[in-house]
Amino acid sequence: MEMCRGKSLVIAVALSCLVLLSLGGQCYGQLQQGFYRGKCISNNDLDFFGRTSFKEEDVEKIVEQEVSREFFNDPKLAAALLRLLFHDCFVEGCDASILLDGTGSEKEAGANQSVRGYDVIERIKKVLERICPGVVSCADIIALATRDAVALASREKLRSPVKTGRKDGFVSLASNVDLPSSTISVSQSIDKFKLKGLSETEMVLLLGAHTVGMTHCGFFQDRLYRADEPMDADLRRALQARCPQDGSGSNNPVALDQGTPMAVDKSYFDQISTKRGILQIDQDLFTSGLTNKTVIEIAAKGFDFAVRFGQAMAKLGEVGVKTTEDQGEIRTTCGRVNFS
Ligand code: HEM
Repeated sequence: MEMCRGKSLVIAVALSCLVLLSLGGQCYGQLQQGFYRGKCISNNDLDFFGRTSFKEEDVEKIVEQEVSREFFNDPKLAAALLRLLFHDCFVEGCDASILLDGTGSEKEAGANQSVRGYDVIERIKKVLERICPGVVSCADIIALATRDAVALASREKLRSPVKTGRKDGFVSLASNVDLPSSTISVSQSIDKFKLKGLSETEMVLLLGAHTVGMTHCGFFQDRLYRADEPMDADLRRALQARCPQDGSGSNNPVALDQGTPMAVDKSYFDQISTKRGILQIDQDLFTSGLTNKTVIEIAAKGFDFAVRFGQAMAKLGEVGVKTTEDQGEIRTTCGRVNFS
């Protein structure tokens, strides 16, 4: 009996070895650190004898260089990409479905009207397609470019560990877009994040992305004229001037982080701890008993915001990813599915 058990164990081990070997030792169907290593081979160079020579390219380095160039032209890039990542990952998973053009696609949903950064991802994609066509997915470009833009906006204090190997999805429907609105309650928001596999603490950390970028008066001006709204008196006066009650300034931009609006840092948590949050949901994170402790902890322990935000961002980037050929493809152009 013992011997039989021993024998079947040996067979099981041998079989799994065979399976592993036939897969080239790789784990398909999962994201990996450095997935593109050895996969992007360019053949543009001629060697000394005029023969085509092949060169292995570093995909992550290429993305980083392109992002640096873009960031130099637009320091608000980190804000654009962080929001793009969030709006992509929460609808159909992180599969670049938000990039697809067409009537009734996600891009056209009300919640995506002020999303920016599509052009940046398409430009990076073009560069990569020239070097090694059909290798790097648009979904991975979003994840890598966001990581790099955030690193630049945090002066390299924050570089999240991003795995790659995502495929680009086939489906993009405005009717699938169900993103949280600025007046969502904290408990409803917790539920929405939980549905995506993100914890309460991760939700708080991720809302810390509002440490950069802009909103518009129309998203929060009701708060300015409600006496019971907790808001610093000086800030309220300044914002009332910017966002008149008659709604005439509803498109006026206002920084989400009134402390250091261009830097990815923990300033957002300091601001909401002193009633200087802009959106309802931002201020409620501090007011609500469900999240107040976490906010205070992040504001107090500044040093660990970078690491924890980076980890939460990486986890956001793994929501509902598609990694197999039946789930997705490597698009040639980010705005279109192949052969459509
Ligand atoms: C309950 C969750 C959230 C709500 C209700 C929310 C809502 C909003 C709203 C209303 C705006 C302003 C849009 C405008 O004025 O045009 C905004 C901007 C922004 N959001 Fe969120 N957001 C949430 C979570 C997140 C998360 C998880 C991230 C990223 C990880 C994020 C990143 C950003 C960024 C960076 C901006 C500024 C964009 C820019 O300047 O272009 N948000 N958000």
